[in-house]
Amino acid sequence: MMIEISHYPNRAEAYSAITPQIRELLRAETDLIANMANIAAMLYSSCGFFWVGFYRVIGDQLVLGPFQGPAACTRIKYGRGVCGTAWQQEQTIIVPDVEQFDGHIACSNASKSEVVVPLMGHDGKVLGVLDVDSDQLNDFSQADAEALENICKILLGC
Ligand code: SME
Repeated sequence: MMIEISHYPNRAEAYSAITPQIRELLRAETDLIANMANIAAMLYSSCGFFWVGFYRVIGDQLVLGPFQGPAACTRIKYGRGVCGTAWQQEQTIIVPDVEQFDGHIACSNASKSEVVVPLMGHDGKVLGVLDVDSDQLNDFSQADAEALENICKILLGC
C-alpha cells in the first residue's frame, strides 16, 4: 500500500485521513512492533507532534518501543511519570502543562504538554502505552484522546 505524506489543515482532518490508512496498513501485518512503528511514523508525519511513541510493559516496567522524535528515556516504573500513571490508572491522561504534573518525567525540555493512552489487552491487562508530546502548552483535547484511543484499538485488533 502506498502511503502519501500529506500536510493537513488541522489535526481533526489528519486523524480522519490517517485512521483508515492505519487500519488498512495493519490489516496486512500482525507483528505488534511493526504496527507500532508505522503508527508512530504516521502520527508524527501527519500531525506535527514533537514526539510520538510506544512503551511496552515488560515485567514491572515500561520499556521504550517504536517512536518518532528525539531520543527518550528507556524505562519507566509502574505508577511513575505520566506513562506509568496511565498504566496504573488504566485510563487516558491528558496533561495540559507537564510542569504541573507531579512526577512528570522530562525526556526533553521542549515537551510542554502530553497525552498518554494505555493499551488494553484482550485479557484486560495493560500491554503498554502510546505517548504523544507537544512543544506547545495545552495542545491536547478530548478529541485528541478519542482519536488516539481509536487508533490504539485498531492496533490491538478490537
Ligand atoms: N513524559 C513521560 C515520559 C516519556 S517522554 O515524554 C517520551 C512521562 O512522564 O511518563
